[in-house]
Order: sequence, then C-alpha cells, then structure tokens
Amino acid sequence: MKFELTEEQRLIQAMVKEFAEKEVAPVAAENDRLHRFPEDLIPKMAELNLLGVPFPEEYGGAGADNISYAIVVEELSRVDASVGVIVSAHTSLGTWPIYKFGTPEQKEKYLRKLVTGEMLAAFALTEPGAGTDAAAGKTTAVLEGDEWILNGSKIFITNGGYADVYIVTAMTDPTKGTKGISAFIVDKDSPGFSVGEKEHKLGIKASSTTPLYFSNCRIPKENLLGKAGEGFKIAMQTLDGGRIGVAAQALGIAQGAFEAAVKYSKERVQFDKPISAQQAIQWMIADMSVEIDASRLLVYRAAWNKDQGLPYSKEAAMAKLFAAETSGRVATKAIQIHGGYGYTENYPVERAFRDAKITEIYEGTSEVQRMVIAGSVLR
Ligand code: CAA
Repeated sequence: MKFELTEEQRLIQAMVKEFAEKEVAPVAAENDRLHRFPEDLIPKMAELNLLGVPFPEEYGGAGADNISYAIVVEELSRVDASVGVIVSAHTSLGTWPIYKFGTPEQKEKYLRKLVTGEMLAAFALTEPGAGTDAAAGKTTAVLEGDEWILNGSKIFITNGGYADVYIVTAMTDPTKGTKGISAFIVDKDSPGFSVGEKEHKLGIKASSTTPLYFSNCRIPKENLLGKAGEGFKIAMQTLDGGRIGVAAQALGIAQGAFEAAVKYSKERVQFDKPISAQQAIQWMIADMSVEIDASRLLVYRAAWNKDQGLPYSKEAAMAKLFAAETSGRVATKAIQIHGGYGYTENYPVERAFRDAKITEIYEGTSEVQRMVIAGSVLR
C-alpha cells in the first residue's frame, strides 16, 4: 500500500493549486458577496483541462485518474467552494453519465464539447416532492413519433441557467416504479424547456442553483440516455461518483479553513503571546488536523476504488459523510480560533462556515449516506 501521490497526481495538484491561488482566490469573496457566477473562470479552467480531468484524451480530456479529479475539486474548493461544485457537478453529474452510458452518436455530439469545456453540464433528478426519495419524481416523458415530450419540473439544479446540457430523469412507465424511470439528455435550447430564478442560498453563493421547467418540452428520440427504464440506476451510479466530488469539495473547504486558522493563531497575540501557544487552541488544531487527514484518506480511497474498477458506492458515501461533517466541525473551530474577527466577512472562514453546510445536504444528505453505508454493510 502506498500513501504518496504519483508524479502525475503531484503535477496536477501543483498546477491546480497555482491556478486556484492566482485566478480563483482573488475573486472568491467578491463573487460570493455579489452572488456572481464566475463565468470568466470557465474558459480559463477549460484551457487547463480542469473540466475534463477523468476522461480519456481521445475525447479531449486530461486522461487522468479519479484521484487527480478529487485533488482538482479539493484545491479549487480550498479557496472557493462555489468553483469546486461548478466543476464537480459538470464533471461527475453532467458529463460522466454521457461518457458511461452514451451511444457513440451521443458521445460524438456532446462528450468532446463537455470535456473540453466548450459546453457546461448539469444533472436534474431532484423535484419539489422528490428529494431524498429520489424515485418519487413526477416529471414524465412520453414518446411521440421521433420525439420525447417531457412535462414537469426539477429543483435545486447546480449550474442551472449556465449549463448547455442537462441530464434529466423522468417517468416513462409509472407502472414499473424505479424501473419506469428513464434518463435523457436535454439541450438548453429545447422547445418547452426553461430555467427559473436562482435560489438565494446560505453558501456557495457564486454557484447557480435553479429550478427547471418542462412544458411539452420536445427532445429528439435519440436523446434517451441508456435504455428506457434504466434512468434510476443511471442516476444512482452517477451520484456514487458525484459523492466523491462533493467529499473532495468538503475536504477542500476544511483544508482552507484549517490553514487560515493555523495562520491566524500564530499571528494573533493575546496575553503577550500568540494564541497558538495556548493549549485550548492547540487541541482544536490537533483535532482539525486529524479529521482532515482522515477525510483525505477516505476521499482518495473512494477515488482509488473507482480507478481500480472496484465497487465504490459505500466508499463514496463514507467519504462524503465524513468529509462533509468534518468540514462543518472544522469551519466552526476555525471561526472560534479567529474569535470576533472570524465572524466577519473580512476573514475567509466566515464563507467556509456557510459553504460547508451544503456538503451535508446535496447529492444525498448525511442521512442518505448512512442509509447507503448501512445498506451495504447489512446486505
Ligand atoms: N448503483 C446501482 N444501482 C443502484 C444503486 C447504485 N448506487 N442504488 C440503488 N440502485 C438500484 C437498486 O439495486 C434497485 O434496483 P433493483 O430494483 O433492480 O434491485 C433500485 O436502484 C432501487 O433501489 P432502492 O430500492 O434502494 O431505492 P430507494 O428508492 O429506496 O432509494 C436512496 C434509495 C439511497 C434513498 C436513493 O433514493 C438516494 O440516493 N436518494 C438521495 C438522492 C440524492 O442523492 N439526490 C441528490 C440529487 S443531485 C443534487 O444534489 C443536485 C445537484 O445539482 C448537486
């Protein structure tokens, strides 16, 4: 067993770290304050192949592994969790299912453009009445001649309004339960498709989260992804990978908050010495450090399993559960170490604290991760 990154993984880490520091960090706080989607970062990330990390070079991807992908999301999230989720939702949720389940024609039409960042992708499963109970969706799709007609709505869609392509689940046979759900590729310009207002969120404010509406939305017959009835399994498998991305995002948030807290504790003088000399602070730093390390091992292990072709559903759920809860605890302690200053917008830990919470909610709440883990253990 090796606990060190490969040469390629180290190079990618160094490259994305430099990009994150130079291009993302300087605008992160302002984008957050203005709720501004960082549109100008998309072509810059595309240029560095950060929107196609785990996809083969033949499609224009970086041809790197999933550990490298996790590192990319981690490093971006270390300075801006909004950018982390934009990349994660695009890569794991929007692009991967086309790579994994798409026909050669679908790959030809979409995959290269997605992988190279010419197009941005999103994933639409959640509905107002179907959150944790993802199978309870009411959106329908009916085949009429050469077109599928979609009706219904989706909610809380990351990259909504900025994505060019949406992976959408809809019921095609209500008599069959989860086996009556199908997945579709929906172009943003499809007739009858529209995007609603952005949500005003607690955190990840620079990312876009919107509802989607399908009103007799017509898409070509050939935009069915996989076979009819396979949509739920496609969504669940997609989320298994997505959870590695969110876990990496949570890890990055925790790492960023931790570094800020360590730095501050060495600079802040009270009682004539830096507060880092106080055992109360040292114990917090020790606990943060342990939990971040444990998160990183879980995240990289889940990504490694995926790279090796081993099962990774439980491992991804474990990584997301632990890293998400760690990010919350670490951000809380990071604010505590900063005292009153940490509660202001002048220090990045305030943003980390707000951003951390969503990692316990989207792509399956912490309770869903426990369901997946327990289901796997007890099977
Ligand atoms: N891989 C492959 N197949 C899977 C699977 C997986 N990981 N998980 C379930 N399945 C299959 C099951 O084997 C079963 O198939 P069979 O009938 O052939 O045995 C079928 O799917 C139904 O499985 P369940 O009976 O377990 O399904 P369920 O209805 O009880 O749901 C659940 C289980 C784990 C709670 C699931 O609904 C779930 O993950 N819910 C959370 C959804 C979620 O994460 N939503 C986030 C959406 S994305 C987002 O957040 C927005 C964004 O843009 C970031």
